[in-house]
Amino acid sequence: MSDPVERLLKETIGLDTASVGPTVVRQSVRERMTACGITDPETYWRLLTGSPQELQELINAVVVPETWFFRDREAFTALAQHARMHKRANQPIKILSLPCSTGEEPYSVAMAMFDAGFGAQEFKIDAVDISTRNLAIAERAVYGRNSFRGSYLEFKDRYFEPAQGGHQVNPAVLKQVRFRAGNLFDSRTSFGAEVYDVLLCRNLLIYFDRELQDRALVSLKALLASDGLLLVGPAESALPRLHGFTSAEWPMAFAFLKSGTVQVVAQTVPVSNSTLPPSVPKPLKSKIVPPVGRQGHLQTTAQMLDQITESLATIERIANAGRVKEAQEVALSHLRQFGPSAEIFYLLGLAQDAEGAAPEAVQNYRKALYLAPNHREALAHLALLLRKQGDHHGAEALTGRLGRIQTRSGT
Ligand SMILES: C[S@@+](CC[C@H](N)C(=O)[O-])C[C@H]1O[C@@H](n2cnc3c(N)ncnc32)[C@H](O)[C@@H]1O
Repeated sequence: MSDPVERLLKETIGLDTASVGPTVVRQSVRERMTACGITDPETYWRLLTGSPQELQELINAVVVPETWFFRDREAFTALAQHARMHKRANQPIKILSLPCSTGEEPYSVAMAMFDAGFGAQEFKIDAVDISTRNLAIAERAVYGRNSFRGSYLEFKDRYFEPAQGGHQVNPAVLKQVRFRAGNLFDSRTSFGAEVYDVLLCRNLLIYFDRELQDRALVSLKALLASDGLLLVGPAESALPRLHGFTSAEWPMAFAFLKSGTVQVVAQTVPVSNSTLPPSVPKPLKSKIVPPVGRQGHLQTTAQMLDQITESLATIERIANAGRVKEAQEVALSHLRQFGPSAEIFYLLGLAQDAEGAAPEAVQNYRKALYLAPNHREALAHLALLLRKQGDHHGAEALTGRLGRIQTRSGT
């Protein structure tokens, strides 16, 4: 029964069952059959293929809505910087969040744009997702603690009001975002002739196979202005280069320019009055405590820590540019020169993940977690990879661990 359903889902929304595991599809089908009061798979198949409404319900049940505010925070700094450099007089910057899931991403964009000094008339955000269930949550705009992760949460006090069941996005931010249902694979029906200055397509391509990733990139390119910026997810950073995009050279933003000219946005002044703290590299200095000793010894240790930090930043830049093979080579030589650390194993895993070398990536994420059991990014990426490999039990255990870390740290 699930094979034709898997095929239908792939044809409709591009979902590669292997990326979520066949159990997820089977569970979603069971959930929908129960909701419809149907026990016979054939009867459900007839309903599914005859009713666009039921197909939508199954899509709502099967998609992965995982998202949170300021996910991969540097993307938002890069976006605001790009917007500032490309703002045309009397024309708002047009931004598309596709997929927007439950709304955390487009609302983060609005907050970042306000923080960068843009007025309400100076930018517009369209937010699109295939899941009508996610869009309903986005429009309600009330969020619980799972949407606020990590230590950068200062925006919460400024842009949210306490509400029943969590915190509600304030009206000024709400007004900037226009939500609608749409399918990336039906982009001209969903978007008409619209062209955007910035396009966020993050953590969706990972659910497609290679052929559909290519089709998706073609659609995304057509939706982007010639000097536009594309932001993808960390494990998707190898793809834009295959379609002629150029890295924007912004560490950990996974940002790519449609035109061939590199604008080196990362080296310009950070967003004005930005509430976004300075970017990576995360200081290893806090983890490596220099031995107390003679002055000269301390100085040498400090110099070495600077070298390590610089080397990690270089690897991030290379990985971020989508040169994932080269990133792995440099990471391995970093490992030989400076020895093991959670950060280097995480970066190595990330580059392998982006290249599709899942078993190697799993190993390195695990090594990162061995050295730093609370490394949130490693936990999140490993959970996603395990889920893709069908290890749902393992993925759930990691997600639970992430949740407990958040509860303990109050974030
Ligand atoms: C993991 S979320 C990513 C959300 C957000 N971009 C982020 O990175 O946090 C993936 C979203 O993609 C949506 N989706 C899946 N297939 C889609 C398609 N073909 N077109 C549009 N949205 C799709 C799902 O409904 C889900 O909300």
